[in-house]
Amino acid sequence: MDPYRLLFHLMPPQGWLNDPNGLCQFHGTYHVFFQYSPENAEGGLKLWGHYTSTDLIHWNYEGAPLVPDREYDKDGVYSGCAFLHEDQMYLYYTGNVKQPGIHDFVHSGREANTVLVTSKDGKQFSPKECIMTNADYPEEYTCHIRDPKVWQQDGRFYMVQGGRLKGDKGTVLVFQSEDLRQWSFHNDVTISESFGYMWECPDYFELPVDMQPGAQMNQRILSLSPQGLEAETYRYQNIYQSGYFRVVGDITQDAKLQEFTEWDMGFDFYAPQTFQDEQGRRILIGWAGMPDADYDNLPTVKQGWQHALTVPRELIWRNGRICQNPVSELEQLRQDFSQLPEGKKFELMKEQGMEYTVRKAYEIEIAEIDSADFLVKFDQNGSGFALQYTEEVFSLEFYGEKAAQIGRGRTKRQFNLDRLQKCRILLDTSLVEVYLNDGEYALTSRYYIENDRFHGEIHCQNGNRSMWEWKGYQCADTFL
Ligand code: FRU
Repeated sequence: MDPYRLLFHLMPPQGWLNDPNGLCQFHGTYHVFFQYSPENAEGGLKLWGHYTSTDLIHWNYEGAPLVPDREYDKDGVYSGCAFLHEDQMYLYYTGNVKQPGIHDFVHSGREANTVLVTSKDGKQFSPKECIMTNADYPEEYTCHIRDPKVWQQDGRFYMVQGGRLKGDKGTVLVFQSEDLRQWSFHNDVTISESFGYMWECPDYFELPVDMQPGAQMNQRILSLSPQGLEAETYRYQNIYQSGYFRVVGDITQDAKLQEFTEWDMGFDFYAPQTFQDEQGRRILIGWAGMPDADYDNLPTVKQGWQHALTVPRELIWRNGRICQNPVSELEQLRQDFSQLPEGKKFELMKEQGMEYTVRKAYEIEIAEIDSADFLVKFDQNGSGFALQYTEEVFSLEFYGEKAAQIGRGRTKRQFNLDRLQKCRILLDTSLVEVYLNDGEYALTSRYYIENDRFHGEIHCQNGNRSMWEWKGYQCADTFL
């Protein structure tokens, strides 16, 4: 029995998972595609795996509808998006090709083809159409252009792709189309200062900003995953980042990118994508993983799988930033409720069943905190991980003799926070998501506490401390 299989996070049925792709709600059904290498838990040739759900709680694994089977995508069906138009699902992705011969695969030897597949029902997919090749991209770019995301604006269709200029500068390229098939390069967007050599997985969308009653304005957002930022004490601490720029102006014209805000301050978060669902919610799902990190997930690799997706997070614009909160559907997973003590241990466990281990998952919420110091520990015999708030710094840190084992190389992440009011913790068997101040900040991290039993501890003078045991997602004939 695998003690690390997750209860309420989408994970690969077997093998490796990375970016979420093609997120949409089509005729009532949510579609979550993802970068998938089923044969190898440490990655390899990428296909698109596919989950569906009608309620974000019950999930079906639908197989892998997009696999590399053409010359133009032979080395990977890379990341992309879904765009819904006139009752059809348009899926766009990057067909990755590595040409034979001696190349650096940055300046030569790599093809980044843009490929389209359509579907009328989300189950059957049309033949592939290769709609752009390297010849369609501007001269000043390296071969690194990928990850299309499409939207409609003023009756026209636009697509962003992530890119790397020959001078090793990250940008977003904007393409334009009248018919969703023929695309041409329109403009590109970047900032003048150096901000990484490559921008992956761009996403462009708007969030409503509530003004006076009746009035409404939209905040334009450009999300992306830059590579090559220098780590700072309180920012950019992972090897690669992901975050968003506030956009002023029109991204297809003369937009100015304002401040960059990281989506998530934990160890394991990258390449998120968003979509708007039928209720009009803007929902984000990220990859709860980090490529090329100096920490690992060996305990799950040994079990034949690696990585997961974050829970779906609803985005709202509040006080000049995006707040992210788990979609409210997840509250249906709540089971037994308890009020937690201050400063005393409470038991958390993965219970021993008759033949196999019954694992458990929890939600812990500490509200009305308003104290200067705050500490939550998840501990097993003096080792574990701690969430701490002191001197306006919030941190997540692995500690104790077994820190290296539990963190698998993860050490400490920290950032400035003016005030801590609320901390909501979603604790899955080996993955934790932490939401602060109703979604102002989020942290996602893997953790590997080995044995069945461990405990929690909350030190915080004020605060209302609640805990729910959670049941897992219901997944038809897959991994639970
Ligand atoms: C981001 C990324 C994308 C690419 C995909 C390949 O994690 O590198 O840019 O399309 O993964 O799996």
